[in-house]
Amino acid sequence: MIWLIGCKGMLGSEVAKQLDEKKLPWVGTDSEVDITDPQALLDFTNKIETAAYFPSDLPKADRKIHWVINCAAYTNVDKAEEEPELAEKLNAAGPLNIARISRSIGAKLIHISTDYVFDGNANLPYTEDMPKAPLGVYGQTKAAGEDAIMKEMNTYYIIRTAWLYGFAGKNFVYTMTKLMNSQNELKVVNDQKGSPTFTSDLAAVILRFIDKNDNAKAFFGKNSAPAYGIYHFINAGQISWYDFACEIYRLGRKFGRITQDCSITPCSTEEYGASVKRPAWSVLSKDKISKALKIKIQDWKNSLEKFMKSERFNPQ
Ligand SMILES: NC(=O)c1ccc[n+]([C@@H]2O[C@H](COP(=O)([O-])OP(=O)(O)OC[C@H]3O[C@@H](n4cnc5c(N)ncnc54)[C@H](OP(=O)(O)O)[C@@H]3O)[C@@H](O)[C@H]2O)c1
Repeated sequence: MIWLIGCKGMLGSEVAKQLDEKKLPWVGTDSEVDITDPQALLDFTNKIETAAYFPSDLPKADRKIHWVINCAAYTNVDKAEEEPELAEKLNAAGPLNIARISRSIGAKLIHISTDYVFDGNANLPYTEDMPKAPLGVYGQTKAAGEDAIMKEMNTYYIIRTAWLYGFAGKNFVYTMTKLMNSQNELKVVNDQKGSPTFTSDLAAVILRFIDKNDNAKAFFGKNSAPAYGIYHFINAGQISWYDFACEIYRLGRKFGRITQDCSITPCSTEEYGASVKRPAWSVLSKDKISKALKIKIQDWKNSLEKFMKSERFNPQ
């Protein structure tokens, strides 16, 4: 049994969809099982081991949780500066509680983290072993969450990602689409570089970690699942927010998502005047994950096209 925490969020809902498609046994929780409350997590694990939770009379052995996937987090980068205690509770204490319960029930943990653990001053893709140096509260609390997991247990995969967008929830693609439908001119930052990452591609990677463990023998011969630890995953390609906006506009016009002309002008972060410092370089190295999972990573443009073409695309 897989326990998906944060199953209603932007990434979590995509993981949920793919678990269903693969017919993997899973249970999902979101804010009703509060990750900041260790007792709530414990109560939930006890509850799902009782037959009453599953009307289908699932045998007890099949109700045992072998995997925990944590997609829950405090993700509002700007607001985190005003609510550091809440961000800390969700991004640091929450993962600690999840690691403790996972270890106590003998489950492996997949946890999602972020490029914001780095300061963005590099000019080559960040590898997993580079020192963390977060710029603000969101990055600091996410870094603390990683540290808590690493201290608490050994059987974890921490996947850092960046510039995430997907069908459910607020994201840059939806924001741009709405703005481009309501304004004729937009200024977009051109001096922060990264790789837009589609939740659908990341969800597939999360499931592949599980598959490669549970079916390690079939993949590799005996007992050689990917080593536990930190991995980076982003789509391929390095661009600025301005480049991203231009492609959103092009595809939006092509697929009828944007119905009027809009001119897009590049500007600097300083000129844009963002209140919270963000990493100028969010490019993460994909070498470790590509080798460990034997995957070819999708180019950001192809993934963006799939997203904007899909009937699930719904910027509200
Ligand atoms: N979005 C990005 O650009 C981005 C980039 C890099 C990394 N990440 C990481 O990717 C992961 C997924 O991000 P996302 O954008 O999918 O997040 P999201 O849409 O904000 O989803 C987070 C989910 O966690 C739930 N949650 C909040 N407080 C909770 C609590 N106390 N107990 C249990 N669940 C709670 C939220 O419920 P409510 O909505 O009810 O609060 C929401 O459903 C996070 O770890 C994030 O740090 C995101």
